Amino acid sequence: MASHVYIDRIGEHVGESVTVKGWLANRRSSGKIHFLVVRDGTGFLQVVMGKKDVDEATFARADHLSQESAVIITGTVRADERAKGGYEMIATGMEVVSEAHDFPITPKEHGVDFLMDRRHLWIRAERQTAILRVRHEVINAIRDFFNGEGFTLADTPIFTPAACEGTTTLFPVQYFEDTTAYLTQSGQLYNEANAMALGKVYTFGPTFRAEKSKTRRHLTEFWMVEPEMAYATLDDVISLAERLVASVVGRVLDRRQKELKVLERDTSKLENVKAPFPRLHYDQAAKILIEKGLPFEVGGDLGGTDETVLSEQFDRPVCVTHYPAAVKAFYMKPDPAQPDRALCVDVLAPEGYGEIIGGGQRLDDYDLLVERIKAHGLPMEAFEWYLDLRRYGSVPHGGFGMGVERCVSWICGLEHVRETIPYPRMLYRLYP
Ligand code: 4AD
Ligand code: MG
Repeated sequence: MASHVYIDRIGEHVGESVTVKGWLANRRSSGKIHFLVVRDGTGFLQVVMGKKDVDEATFARADHLSQESAVIITGTVRADERAKGGYEMIATGMEVVSEAHDFPITPKEHGVDFLMDRRHLWIRAERQTAILRVRHEVINAIRDFFNGEGFTLADTPIFTPAACEGTTTLFPVQYFEDTTAYLTQSGQLYNEANAMALGKVYTFGPTFRAEKSKTRRHLTEFWMVEPEMAYATLDDVISLAERLVASVVGRVLDRRQKELKVLERDTSKLENVKAPFPRLHYDQAAKILIEKGLPFEVGGDLGGTDETVLSEQFDRPVCVTHYPAAVKAFYMKPDPAQPDRALCVDVLAPEGYGEIIGGGQRLDDYDLLVERIKAHGLPMEAFEWYLDLRRYGSVPHGGFGMGVERCVSWICGLEHVRETIPYPRMLYRLYP
């Protein structure tokens, strides 16, 4: 009996007879030989089936087998430079586990809506599996980075009683007695409490934004990693963000060359991603935008186009700091030297990808925080516990949030974040 091997390890079995269990991705024939492309989740393998190498029934069946039929194929592994992946298999036998009929996604071009409606099948495509594997690597790299830096994972709730990032993008949930709950926009506020207990913490999970914006950067459900550090300043936060991003990109370059090649990613652009990153005060950013002729209003937030233009000016991510406090969240600490500015940072990815990280130093003064909660029209009762953090041993602290999908989209060089998660949720997309 030949042993079952996975395609990504097939190179360890050259000259041996082994079995591959998977699905038929593609097929062509030249009368006496069938070329079957089989995928098994770990990779794609060309199987050469010669008429003389298998019995007649098997050869005839292979000639009619349709795309995505489940097959178990046994054969001898051969190194071949011309073959995709460097190896191919000379088949000696084939078992058809189940036959597929009229798989809807064929090698021809399909529109995005057609593919998104069949996302549960589309994820079988080579490009899609490459993206999802990069996502997996990014997530593992993030976890390893924080664990290696002595951070403790402390999860934060998804049902919350109040807004973190502004009341206009909340998803209400009716379940809890006498009150409306909201799906979390960010674990930050709880994470601040965790940091006062554990020092350096991170939370990593799904977050929700009822975004009405239909852009290539927005999902309504996305994954965010959020570190938070007690006794930290804006500088500490920026330095952590730089090291995280450089570490994640380095890890993908190290371990996912195969996937980046499938995606035809120009990796030279990623090689530049080394800390430190250039830093740009909001005023400098505004100056660049105006010089470039953009209709930018000084004092306002950066829009998608502004971010694109700014991030195109640099060969690595750029840290934009000191935004006007008025355009940022209630919890940001004002710069003592320039109180209308927040001690905040947005990290913009290069090549026009825009914001991947947002964070900064938190408002640690009790009175000012109360003032801000009121000014933002937020319900004070819901924030009493948060104010406790300023009552009992308040210290300078800070952190940030990095969106996994935006990060993967940039590293993979994609047009849109929708391909970076198996089942994207967007304004017009809830199915499948
Ligand atoms: O800048 P944001 O809104 O910051 C926060 O939520 C902070 N409370 C985080 C913190 O300091 N702990 O979001 C952080 C990141 C963005 O930079 C972006 O990468 C991602 O989350 N993000 C989105 N990704 C996809 N779709 C959306 N609608 C996103 N909104 C934010
Ligand atoms: Mg932001």
